[in-house]
Amino acid sequence: MSVRYRSLKGMKDLLPPESFLWAAIQSKARALFESFGFSEISTPLVEYAELFTRHVGPTTDIVEKQMYIFKDKKGDSIALRPEGTAPIVRAYLEHQLYHPDPYQKFYYWGPMYRYERMQKGRYRQHTQLGVEVFGATHPRIDAETIALLAQFYRVVGIEAFEVQINSMGCRECRPKFLKKLLDDLKPKKAELCHDCQRRLEKNPMRVLDCKEEGCQQRVKGAPRILEHLCRDCEGHFEGLKEALHQLNVVYTINPFVVRGLDYYVKTAFEIVSSALGAQSSLGGGGRYDGLVKSLGGADIPGFGFGAGIERLVLALPDAGKTGIRTDLFVAALGSKAQAFSYALVNKFRTRGVRTEVDYENRPLKAQMKKADRLGARYVLMMGDEEMDKGEALLRNMDTKEQKSIPMGDLLKRIKKEMDS
Ligand code: HAM
Repeated sequence: MSVRYRSLKGMKDLLPPESFLWAAIQSKARALFESFGFSEISTPLVEYAELFTRHVGPTTDIVEKQMYIFKDKKGDSIALRPEGTAPIVRAYLEHQLYHPDPYQKFYYWGPMYRYERMQKGRYRQHTQLGVEVFGATHPRIDAETIALLAQFYRVVGIEAFEVQINSMGCRECRPKFLKKLLDDLKPKKAELCHDCQRRLEKNPMRVLDCKEEGCQQRVKGAPRILEHLCRDCEGHFEGLKEALHQLNVVYTINPFVVRGLDYYVKTAFEIVSSALGAQSSLGGGGRYDGLVKSLGGADIPGFGFGAGIERLVLALPDAGKTGIRTDLFVAALGSKAQAFSYALVNKFRTRGVRTEVDYENRPLKAQMKKADRLGARYVLMMGDEEMDKGEALLRNMDTKEQKSIPMGDLLKRIKKEMDS
């Protein structure tokens, strides 16, 4: 059969059994984030493009090359959201969520769109789980939020990851650092990759996290921002390290963590996994103290992170990838048993037992094969003969043990069996 339509390049369908895994990840995230005091927030997939072009940074890769922008019928410029922070700041201001207390903590889960060059772990639609904390300046908040992301990875079964931290400085100290960086890199300009030659003019900090081997060599000896922080930023970074230590978060300092969005000040961090190859960042974020103000609000600080779910699933060891099994498969043989099983299956399902059945009246062997394919834990076998005797046969598919169960007692006995 030839396929007439395909999904767009870089956009993936989420299919079972992986969809079960995603649902399990999402429910673990909800439970964990809510216990850390976060409430769920959800914003539309589209926003006015200007929200991103002005506030994510006009010279970032996202804004320069990766936005999906179109005109709507009125001629307004609309963008598929490339990231979640700017829309949440917009919602925070639009709905006055800072009132009466600016201190608010939100989490979100949803698709983001970036027109990227495809590779493993890099897609044009990806799903982010993220958080944003407003109204808190203390580095303890930074550390607590980083610890939350690390705990999330542990809870979902990521075994090996590294927390990397850095400081981006602030409006006070960064310009002085950038000047030093430019003095160092300008003479090496011709040796940098094409993108970095451009970055050097517009956004020199980004040269520091270029993935090209040649550029990485050139920046090795470049000035380090941590050696050029103002007192305020230095104090914040010291406070962050101390708070991470108090929470037992093991971290490394990586002066090349500079992030791809322009709104960061002070703390920037990434959690990386060696299981991912080139796109090694599982999740990351940082502090964005000027963003609320630049969107027209008061001077309210912010801190947050985004974590890609596709990358998380890629980094999960196989053992963590098991889908959901069917609890019970009903193999009914003969017209009487088929008719009886119809209502019975419904009863099981409404009581929360994941139940499947075959309505085609196929031979037992074919039905058992199907039960196997579904990974059923139990199979309930009933034929017209068993119906007349008033009992059915329950087979434990793992131990291969079989038991006769009275028809009148099926639900109670099977639930008991499953819980034992
Ligand atoms: P980001 O680093 O651009 O940050 O994205 C966060 C995470 O989303 C990445 O670490 C990665 O796991 C995933 N991701 C990004 N792009 C792709 C892609 N093309 N394909 C697959 N996964 C991807 C932000 O977006 C910030 N808004 C995070 C934040 C929240 N900072 C403060 N608050």
